Amino acid sequence: MKKAVILGTGSSLPERILTNAELEQVVDTSDEWVTSRTGIRMRRIAGTNEQNYQLATSAGRRALADAGIQPEELDLIVVATISPHMIMPSTACFVQAELGAVNAFAYDINAACAGFTYGLDLARNYIHSRPDMKILLIGAETLSARVNWADRNTCVLFGDGAGAAVLSGCGDGRGIFGTNLHADGRLWKLLFMDSPESRNPDLQREDWQGAFIQMNGSDIFKYAVRLMAESVNSLLTSHAIGVDDISLMIPHQANIRILKNLRDRLGVPEEKVFINVDKYGNTSAASIPIALDEANRQGRLVRGKIVLLCTFGGGLTWGSLLMRW
Ligand code: UT7
Repeated sequence: MKKAVILGTGSSLPERILTNAELEQVVDTSDEWVTSRTGIRMRRIAGTNEQNYQLATSAGRRALADAGIQPEELDLIVVATISPHMIMPSTACFVQAELGAVNAFAYDINAACAGFTYGLDLARNYIHSRPDMKILLIGAETLSARVNWADRNTCVLFGDGAGAAVLSGCGDGRGIFGTNLHADGRLWKLLFMDSPESRNPDLQREDWQGAFIQMNGSDIFKYAVRLMAESVNSLLTSHAIGVDDISLMIPHQANIRILKNLRDRLGVPEEKVFINVDKYGNTSAASIPIALDEANRQGRLVRGKIVLLCTFGGGLTWGSLLMRW
């Protein structure tokens, strides 16, 4: 049976780099605090010609070039995002028009930071039923427009960017072979972002900050480590795979301390965990595909070897995925 294989990857980052030192001029924080608590040294901030769909399109174009596929060959474009260009139409429709992918249907998905991994599972299932399908999956965010730049608890954490992958069916044993996805909507208040004028009676209060990302950082931290570790352990067990069999782990890039905790719990050696949170901060749904593209271009993804993804985000949503590259 053919499995869903990633044929090519791409990414696109805004030009503007915002360092921790510059943030010291914006909020009451310090490079020392941000670096030691999060591992983030800088992040990218989108400019006027770097709207979500524009970053998404350029990441998608690079993934298509890497895969050797023309836009007209695409059957489906999916964009995972929590900062869409508009509510309607979907960011995926803007990307479809920009690329000239005239034969593709297109839509967005929202699973917060877990969006790209959820999207890979979705692509896997399409390809399972139609192996010749060519799918462009993108994670794209412009969260700089959705954080409160006066709130030091959140504004230091997030960044903008996009990453993409082209998938199709392949019968040589490579591809996605396991996913383990979860959600717990009861815990939504730990991390959320609403519209500027909330219709949610729970949230109509004087200090309403709903247009901005709201987060209970310490609870999110604890859930992230525990739930990602549980998901990975159960996925590895169900496929009779040991940590030694994994050639590279690409986790959601949220915070270096979460990643170190996770690495220690799972017993994955440092050199097998891909990290770029220092350069880009937390880019939500874009974080895994940007990391995947960097790993690909650095030659760290070896054909036939096993790659593990794990993710965690608002919802709560979380999970893990195994593929043979
Ligand atoms: O995709 C998932 C998205 N979210 C995450 O990954 C975030 C997960 N959580 C975290 O990464 C951490 O909880 C944070 C980095 C957000 C915070 O680190 P922490 O070690 O949990 O710090 P804390 O929340 O316990 O806060 C410690 C202190 C507080 O001061 P007081 O109340 O003790 O006086 C904060 O006000 O640090 C203060 N603080 C800051 N100080 C300087 C919070 N943000 C900042 C800041 N600069 N930017």
